[in-house]
Amino acid sequence: MQKLIVEGGRRLRGELVLQGSKNSSLPILAASLLCREECVIRNCPALTDVYAAARILNCVGCRCTFSENTAVISPQTVTGTAIPEALMREMRSSIIFMGAMLGRMGECGVSVPGGCELGPRPIDMHLAALRKMGVDITEPGGSIVCRSRGGRAKGAKLTLAFPSVGATENIILCAAAAEGETVINNAAREPEICDLCGFLRACGADIAGDGGSSIVIRGRDKLHGCEYTVMPDRIAGATYLSMTAAAGGEMILDNACPAEMEPFLNVLEQTGCSIYTSGDRIYLRSGSRLRAVRDRIRTMPHPGFPTDAQAVLMAALATAEGTSVFEENIFDCRYRHTDALVKMGADIQILGKVAIVRGVPGLHGAPVEATDLRGGAAMVCAALAAEGISEISRICYIDRGYEKIEEAVRKLGGRISRV
Ligand code: EPZ
Repeated sequence: MQKLIVEGGRRLRGELVLQGSKNSSLPILAASLLCREECVIRNCPALTDVYAAARILNCVGCRCTFSENTAVISPQTVTGTAIPEALMREMRSSIIFMGAMLGRMGECGVSVPGGCELGPRPIDMHLAALRKMGVDITEPGGSIVCRSRGGRAKGAKLTLAFPSVGATENIILCAAAAEGETVINNAAREPEICDLCGFLRACGADIAGDGGSSIVIRGRDKLHGCEYTVMPDRIAGATYLSMTAAAGGEMILDNACPAEMEPFLNVLEQTGCSIYTSGDRIYLRSGSRLRAVRDRIRTMPHPGFPTDAQAVLMAALATAEGTSVFEENIFDCRYRHTDALVKMGADIQILGKVAIVRGVPGLHGAPVEATDLRGGAAMVCAALAAEGISEISRICYIDRGYEKIEEAVRKLGGRISRV
C-alpha cells in the first residue's frame, strides 16, 4: 500500500497546469458508446477511475486506448451489453454506462455501482426516469437488467426530485438516441453536464438548455464520432488553491476555468487570499494567516458551493483566525476526513450536517489514513500547512481523482514523496 510523506510548514510558490476534469471525462467516455465512428478525447486525466471506464468500454467491445492524456475509442461494434459486477464496483460513474448502453443497444445488464462512501448513494432517480422512458427494469439478485420496450427508449417529460448529476447524465445518454423528445426539469446544472452535452452535440446530438434547470433532448438514430477536449477539473483546481491558501504563499493555476470555479473562488476570497484571474489563469497569494469565513458555507447543487470542495476548504480554514461553519447538504456522510484533521490539531465539532471549525494557530504532522477521494486531498492540504512530517496512507482514494498529486504539489514547492 503506497503512502504520501509530506513535510509541511513551508510556504508554497509555484505554477501548475490544471488536469482535465474527472467528472467530465467519465460521462464523456460512456457517451462514446453512442457513436458509430472513432472518438478522440483530449485532456483526459490519467486517473484510476478513467482507466476503469476504459475497461468497461473494452469489456463491451469498444476498443479504448490512451496515449498521454488522449483517449481514442473505436465504438463501431458493441459486442456485449452486460458489465461485470467487479467493473461496476470500481467507481460510482459506472452507473451512467446504463444510459449509454440503453441508447446504443436498447438493453443492458449492470449492478449497483461503487464509489466513495459518502453515505447511502441510491440510484432510485436514475431507474424511475428510465422506466418513464419505456425501459423495463428488473433487479434479480442484486443485478439490474434493463430492456427498452420495442428495442428503443422513448422520449418523456421528466422532473427530478433533486438535481442529481448522475441521474441527469444517465437520462441525457439514453435520451440522445431515444425515439422522440425528452425534457428534464430540475436538471443538474454542473459544468460537467454542459461538457457532456458539448461532446454529444459534437457527435450530432440535438440537446439544448444544458447549464439551466430544463434540458431538451431530441433523440437521433445514429451519432457520428468527433474530436473533443475535456474541460479543466474545477475541483482539482479548488484543491490546489486550498493547499496554497493553507500553507501560505503564491501560485499560478494554468488551463483553469475561473468562471466554472466562481462559487468556490467567491468563498476563498473571503478568507483574505488575493485572487486574480486572466483568461484561463488564476493567480492566488495567501498572506500570513487566513480569516475565518463569516457566513455559513452551505454545499449546494451548482451554482452553489460545490460539495467536492468542502473538505479541502475545511483543511485550509483549520488554521484560520476565527470560526467557520460548514453545512453539508448533498451527502449524508461527508465529514469522515475531520478525524484526521483533529488528529493534526484542528478544532472541529460535528453537529449533524453542520461542522464548526474553530481556527487554531497551527497544525502538527501526524500519520493519517485517507477515507475518500476529497477527504484524502484535504489531508494533503492540512499536511502542507502543518509543522513537521505527515504520513498519509490509503492514497488509492486520492489517485482516483488527482493526476500524480505528488508531482503537482512539488511544482507548487511542496515537500512530498510517494513511498
Ligand atoms: C456526482 O456524483 C459526482 N461524481 C460527485 O463527485 C459529486 O459530489 C456529486 O455529483 C454532486 O455534485 C461524479 O460525477 C463521478 P448526485 P453523483 O447524483 O452523480 C442523492 C467526487 O468527489 N441521490 O448529484 O453520485 C445522492 O445520494 C465525487 O468527484 C439519490 O438519492 O451525485 C446524494 O445524496 C464525489 N438518488 C445526492 O442525491 C439518486 O437516484 C447527490 O447525488 C441519485 C442521487
